[in-house]
Amino acid sequence: MNNITDKEFDLIRGYIKQEYGINLGDEKKSLVYSRLRNVLTDLNIDDFTQYYDYLINDKSGRASITFIDKMTTNHTYFMREVDHFYYFRDTVLPYLEKNIKDRDLRIWCAGCSSGEESCTLEILLDEYFSEKQGWNTELLATDVSTNVLKKASLGIYSKEQIKPLDDNWKNLYFEDVDDKNVKICKKIKSKITYRKFNLMENHFPFRKKFHVIFCRNVMIYFDNETRTKLINKFYDASAEGAYLFIGHSETLNNTDTEYKYVLPAVYRKL
Ligand SMILES: C[S@@+](CC[C@H](N)C(=O)[O-])C[C@H]1O[C@@H](n2cnc3c(N)ncnc32)[C@H](O)[C@@H]1O
Repeated sequence: MNNITDKEFDLIRGYIKQEYGINLGDEKKSLVYSRLRNVLTDLNIDDFTQYYDYLINDKSGRASITFIDKMTTNHTYFMREVDHFYYFRDTVLPYLEKNIKDRDLRIWCAGCSSGEESCTLEILLDEYFSEKQGWNTELLATDVSTNVLKKASLGIYSKEQIKPLDDNWKNLYFEDVDDKNVKICKKIKSKITYRKFNLMENHFPFRKKFHVIFCRNVMIYFDNETRTKLINKFYDASAEGAYLFIGHSETLNNTDTEYKYVLPAVYRKL
């Protein structure tokens, strides 16, 4: 198979930016080649010009599914940036409990990857609300990659992956699958709604506003203009007083936003 030319790299990076907001610098040329090489081989396609034509003309939807599954970086793990979870449990949930009068709490985990972050949030919700009467809590977890959503919906993790969790959680919320793997329990999994959703959609189709949005380590792949547009869509989709959590290596400093800074990587709509 032919290597990727500069012109072909520009076509591919133009496509991923346009459709998914992901910004690929010049140094990502070899990454694009290595991630897509096998896709071209499977399709019996010799060069990236033909592949690009196939990608933009495919009507079945399969081409873009495989493309974005290969191109996204889905790295995640349990208790990543753990102070956010403690803040969520110790400050955000008590605030929401006091202030949401209709007891209808809605949280969105945007860019959830294989579900480690959403499972943790749902466990925290379960711990906090299970003894409290009359609460309806909704956790929506979305990603653009079909592959990771399948993993998240399956809810199977290795014992190695759940090592950072405390033993009480391991016993209460996970069941053994075999010697090496566990499964998140039904009670938690059935309460998380996993959906495919591209954050580049112009219109967010949610009827009700969110009280908390987690979108961590997703916007690192976007440029400033894309990030600003997304942040404003999050803002519009949020209730008054709502929280936004982003990744610790991210900031809203250069974005034109109404969000108010609370803590590193935590913002509010006030
Ligand atoms: C590095 S993972 C972060 C996972 C998790 N939030 C965490 O912090 O551990 C980034 C995720 O963002 C998703 N993503 C990238 N671009 C997206 C887009 N345009 N719409 C929705 N999800 C996107 C990727 O598929 C990937 O699973």
